[in-house]
Amino acid sequence: MCGIVGYIGKRQAYPIIIKGLKRLEYRGYDSAGVAILNGETRIFKCKGKVSDLEELTKKEDMTGFIGIGHTRWATHGEPNDVNAHPHASMNGHFVIIHNGIIENYSRLKQRLEDRGYIFKSETDTEVLANLIEYIYMKGNVSAEIAVRLALTKVIGAYGIIVICKDEKEQLIAARKGSPLVIGIGDGEYFFASDATPIVEYTHSVIYMNDNNVAVIKNNDLSLKTIHNDTLTPEVHTLDLDIGEIEKGGFDHFMLKEIFEQSRSILDTMRGRVVSDNPEITLGGLYHVMPRLIEAKRIIIIGCGTSWHAGLVGEYLFEEFARIPVEVEYASEFRYRNPVIFKDDVVIAISQSGETADTLAAIKLAKEAGALVLGICNVVGSSIPRETHAGVYTHAGPEIGVASTKAFTAQVTVLAMIAMHLGDKRGTLTKEEYTALIKHLTEIPNKVDKILSKNEEYKEIAALYKNSNNFLYLGRGYYFPVALEGALKLKEISYIHAEGYPAAEMKHGPIALIDEKMPVVVIAVKDNTYDKIVSNIQEVKARKGIVIAIVNEGDTVIKSMADHIMEIPNSDFALAPLLAVIPLQLLSYYIAVMRGCNVDQPRNLAKSVTVE
Ligand code: AGP
Ligand code: GLU
Repeated sequence: MCGIVGYIGKRQAYPIIIKGLKRLEYRGYDSAGVAILNGETRIFKCKGKVSDLEELTKKEDMTGFIGIGHTRWATHGEPNDVNAHPHASMNGHFVIIHNGIIENYSRLKQRLEDRGYIFKSETDTEVLANLIEYIYMKGNVSAEIAVRLALTKVIGAYGIIVICKDEKEQLIAARKGSPLVIGIGDGEYFFASDATPIVEYTHSVIYMNDNNVAVIKNNDLSLKTIHNDTLTPEVHTLDLDIGEIEKGGFDHFMLKEIFEQSRSILDTMRGRVVSDNPEITLGGLYHVMPRLIEAKRIIIIGCGTSWHAGLVGEYLFEEFARIPVEVEYASEFRYRNPVIFKDDVVIAISQSGETADTLAAIKLAKEAGALVLGICNVVGSSIPRETHAGVYTHAGPEIGVASTKAFTAQVTVLAMIAMHLGDKRGTLTKEEYTALIKHLTEIPNKVDKILSKNEEYKEIAALYKNSNNFLYLGRGYYFPVALEGALKLKEISYIHAEGYPAAEMKHGPIALIDEKMPVVVIAVKDNTYDKIVSNIQEVKARKGIVIAIVNEGDTVIKSMADHIMEIPNSDFALAPLLAVIPLQLLSYYIAVMRGCNVDQPRNLAKSVTVE
């Protein structure tokens, strides 16, 4: 996720681009840049906010009728001036901005280096810039052909806008997997990641589709596929206002992020899970993998939702890799003088990468000589800089304070690591490993299937929105999901909710059950299914209300529960990625019906950078 803006027309490009980048700030950014074509192509870029970019350019001549701008959400190469976009090709023929991930960038980079290309940045984007130039110069072809041919060699996601210094009065745009919208004005064209920067100038837009290439030249728009098939542009009339566009048409960022999860889980796997040649590659752990494979113990630390993801990780690592795991609240770990050995591996999980308790726990683990890894969503944040190695979740910016897509991305990373370790340690057979990879790649489509039933969750929410207490029960892999579901409800609806291992109910909580108590039970089929059925019977015997999450087609619990929320069948170890979705939506709808501020709940901050 990041923001890209382009303009070609009769007005000065720079003010339009800067204003457009500010409109896209909600998409997350860590650096920003602009290129203006006026005879030559002048590039200005820096780490920081769009306002820092304005400061950088305020004394410069920014006149020009063609320009491109970018706010970066780093995936390859930490946020700094050099890695910021736009990127110029080595010989200066091309300048490019890019939203997305080039999965095969390292192989392409090697081939270009073998042919004399020298790189300035660590980004995958610069590889694309040089690949286009290499084809352009070697093949002596037009800029458009060079862009199209280069894109046929790219694996991954991109939304790009390209300037060629030799073909002035032209912008080339292309997309695959990352959004790109073209605004059509009177003698002028606008490009942007979404319609937010465009809607104030024109309501006529073209939503580019995957493998589309658009060329604007001499006030003429041509739209083709990367294979040079001519397309007829489909012009739509925008009927959203800016606020709605920022939320993608959703009422809240939280709902938008819940619905992004099939894509964010896919992005988390992108470049790491190869299903046709079953293999999981985690580049960020490459140089520490031998120590990880030999680990005698793994300690997972985190806070809140990240701690819940860690609990799922405990089951995954112990199941697949047979490595003992402890999961600790970072705030407890840092103060209880823990026993840490040099051959321990500590994994810190954090969406923001800035949580103070987690950072402090990391420092303690490093002082004790453990290998410390990070699983973070924000590239270049403090925790990735503090840890010895790690894996970015690539979930894109999470704006809603209640964490949703970060949780599923974190669990996806933990599953990939655990599966990889299982394969390398021989605790997973090749058949098991291959089957798990296949199941993992099927998760995004299954998430979409669950999301399509959101109206069902709304109906249940309406029935229980005024309850004073909820109980969430789960066993095994789904106990952490019960905790996460309870946290979601309490932090955005302010209803008291507790998560418990289902078997624990008889040790006290069952005293709470009465006809006013909704009990959410995650009853996905696994080796404890019969036990969870008994727990549901115990709740019903005390007139409790049972809302059960079950596998599709489960008739046993359907006959017992007051409400069921079905999820597609999957490997039970990966089912937490599915079981959490209905709980996110149930919490969201209850909170909205209670008139709560879903995106910024009272008393909460998105990143707890203080103790
Ligand atoms: C989750 O919904 C909460 N907003 C909160 O518990 C959060 O998970 C916790 O503060 C940890 O944040 P981090 O993942 O950025 O470290
Ligand atoms: N992968 C590119 C980079 O890391 C683009 C990231 C983005 O979408 O902002 O620079």
